[in-house]
Amino acid sequence: MKTLYIKGGRIVDPAEGLDKIADLLVKNGLVYKVAPGLRPPPGSEVVDATDLIVAPGLIDIHVHLRDPGQEYKEDIFSGGRAAAAGGFTALASMPNTDPIADDPAVIRYIRSKVEQAVVRVYPIGAITAGLKGEMIAEMGRMKKAGAVAFSDDGKGVMNGNLMRNALSYASGIDALLIVHEEDSLLAAGGVMHEGPVSSVLGLRGMPAAAEEAMLARDIMLLELTGGRLHAAHLSTAGSVELVRRAKAKGLQITAEVTPHHLLLTDRAVKNSGYHTDTKVNPPLRSEEDRQALWEGLLDGTIDAIASDHAPHSSDDKDVEYDFAPFGIAGLESTLPLMLDEINSGRRKEFNIAMLVDKLSAAPARILGLPGGRLSVGSPADVTIIDPQRSHVIDTAKWYSKSKNTPLNGRRLTGAPVYTIVGGEIVMKEGVVPE
Ligand code: DOR
Ligand code: ZN
Repeated sequence: MKTLYIKGGRIVDPAEGLDKIADLLVKNGLVYKVAPGLRPPPGSEVVDATDLIVAPGLIDIHVHLRDPGQEYKEDIFSGGRAAAAGGFTALASMPNTDPIADDPAVIRYIRSKVEQAVVRVYPIGAITAGLKGEMIAEMGRMKKAGAVAFSDDGKGVMNGNLMRNALSYASGIDALLIVHEEDSLLAAGGVMHEGPVSSVLGLRGMPAAAEEAMLARDIMLLELTGGRLHAAHLSTAGSVELVRRAKAKGLQITAEVTPHHLLLTDRAVKNSGYHTDTKVNPPLRSEEDRQALWEGLLDGTIDAIASDHAPHSSDDKDVEYDFAPFGIAGLESTLPLMLDEINSGRRKEFNIAMLVDKLSAAPARILGLPGGRLSVGSPADVTIIDPQRSHVIDTAKWYSKSKNTPLNGRRLTGAPVYTIVGGEIVMKEGVVPE
């Protein structure tokens, strides 16, 4: 029997209501015992977690792996290693690949290739065929093939009647829809947030209303059809308020936010000198929006943090602002950025237990995945964090094939030091073996 003994760490497990110094014993890939003063069985592999935080494995529910079709940007293998380096033990991959994951065959392809990844990869299927917004994709058959949710991420579903039907169909098969809220006509041609900064820069803006109008519509449809909705990457104050009110009404809605929307505003477009790494959809918004996202995160309106890891090659990004693809890569920076925010003390209510909830327990709950807690008998997916480790974001050292982030060079305090999947160490001190 293979055993792993994680000694003397601070176990932070919000789903189990645990925050205490204890040892964690893993047998045959499963959590065997969590208690202080455990004695390791002879022959155990030992990890000394003194002064470290031992958390249930982090789960990134919004990742673009680009596989199949754009493997020069990322593939399941490189994306899996990037996830492990970033402290994630599992991720959910978006369907805007080539071919698009809109039928069971593509879902099965991803599932078969996942064996090569060092972390768990859960495919998300498309809501509409070809992401075209014209016809509902075969959600039922994709669910049977292993799709854990459905999304047209990258664009909004413009046809309200189709969205209504998708919601009621999804509700019938107990499937979750993840919605990218954007009215493509309101946002048409936009490359950044519409506001004073876009006016000064002379760039076409995407108004906050393009996101809020679609979110408001979908909340109304949810009320009509029942079922569950998860709003991806909230970016505006109005969106936070809409979700807050929908939750108060008792609707089954959840929401996520990305680190870049929590940390940056449209000023980054200007201050970076129009650097295309600041081009992302939804766009970096105003300071008022950013503050509202924090409020929503802290008061529970926003359930989860997700990277929206959207890798693009430097060739793709190295063009005029108007022509660059949208996207920021974030698998390897999400956790450190959030740990640094805790260390900075800028938000008093933001602490480690809340962060583990937003990055592990809540994602598992939202997608109905195993993990998110360290209960006895659950898979031993564990992230070990050094909250005091000081380092600099250096994309040259990333495992991701893509380096597109405007946050490169930031000095941060706090980093993952071990990523453990099913009892196997897949990342140690930043190194992910082949
Ligand atoms: O910035 C983005 N990039 N937003 C999206 O919705 C899609 C994503 C991508 O696939 O690159
Ligand atoms: Zn996305």
